Amino acid sequence: MNTKIYASLKSIASFVPNRNVSNKDLEKIVDTSDDWITKRTGIEGRYFAEDNQKSSDLGFEAAKIAIHRANIKATDVDMIICATLSPDYLAMPSTATIISYKLGIENKPAFDISSACSGFIYLLSIAKAYIESGMYDNILIIGAEKTSSVLDFRDRNTCVLFGDGAGAAVIGKTNEIKKAIVDVHISANGKYANLLMTPMDSPFIKMKGNEVFKLAVKTLANDVEEILKKNNIKPKDIDFFIPHQANLRIINAVGNMVDIDSSKIVLTVQKYGNTSAASIPMAIDEIYRERKLKNGDLLLLDAFGGGLTWGSSLLYFNGS
Ligand code: UT7
Repeated sequence: MNTKIYASLKSIASFVPNRNVSNKDLEKIVDTSDDWITKRTGIEGRYFAEDNQKSSDLGFEAAKIAIHRANIKATDVDMIICATLSPDYLAMPSTATIISYKLGIENKPAFDISSACSGFIYLLSIAKAYIESGMYDNILIIGAEKTSSVLDFRDRNTCVLFGDGAGAAVIGKTNEIKKAIVDVHISANGKYANLLMTPMDSPFIKMKGNEVFKLAVKTLANDVEEILKKNNIKPKDIDFFIPHQANLRIINAVGNMVDIDSSKIVLTVQKYGNTSAASIPMAIDEIYRERKLKNGDLLLLDAFGGGLTWGSSLLYFNGS
């Protein structure tokens, strides 16, 4: 009898660059206020990478730790995938290939995906499919963002919202569903592409924030309800709800609509701002480093971003 192979979250790690930028610092360069930013978004500060630090440098630091925590060697990694909206190079080479070379990995597949802030959920779904097909044993997934490289610091609608950072995880295999990535749901609708984009004539993020906000709350609440129902899991069974960290008001609205106890909602948006594809793994690592996250904990993730893209996942943490 064949034993079923499930994909499993074996480790989590993150890296945050040194330079802390407060709302007060931003007041000096753009027409905004600490009060507006905190009230409308919950964000109190963010970290920006140095000029000579690229997304691959941030991703490499997180990836090194993720590999170490998974108790494997870099050469045991079968494939490297990076989600980023702020790649080192516009079209090629991919940030994943650069990170993999920095890790000492050669002659293994490496590629980037473009699904903006939903990147980490998309990465989980890809890694899950490769592992469960039996094709690979260990996949390194990385969300790495130097969002400051795609921000227009004259546009107060966007530049106050984002931060830099990276998160990484090793996805391995297990035979036990209680150690597995139970489900991943991803979706997209290009009808809303113009709401959040880097237009062809500019390298900078442009967003119709208010419209994105309304769609995000509605879509995420439905999506989370659906994944819980489909897997017959009640909100009270969840140990941690780890949403994409874009706006405290979006997170709380979704949490309320789905009836998740606020003590289970992981919040890092105050400290780091919106770090796009890095935000979910950075938030998971936050509770890992605080020693709150335990092997066997059931996590619910959700994300929403440019595309528009969105997704959710239910998974047991299987790291040590
Ligand atoms: O991660 C990818 C997904 N992205 C998101 O989920 C972001 C979703 N959107 C949001 O989080 C919110 O819509 C924002 C935080 C971007 C904006 O909050 P809002 O409550 O939707 O504000 P708004 O865009 O309706 O703007 C309200 C006012 C405007 O002024 P008037 O027209 O009312 O006079 C803006 O010009 O706030 C003004 N404003 C600012 N004021 C001070 C916009 N940005 C700023 C700013 N500082 N930085």
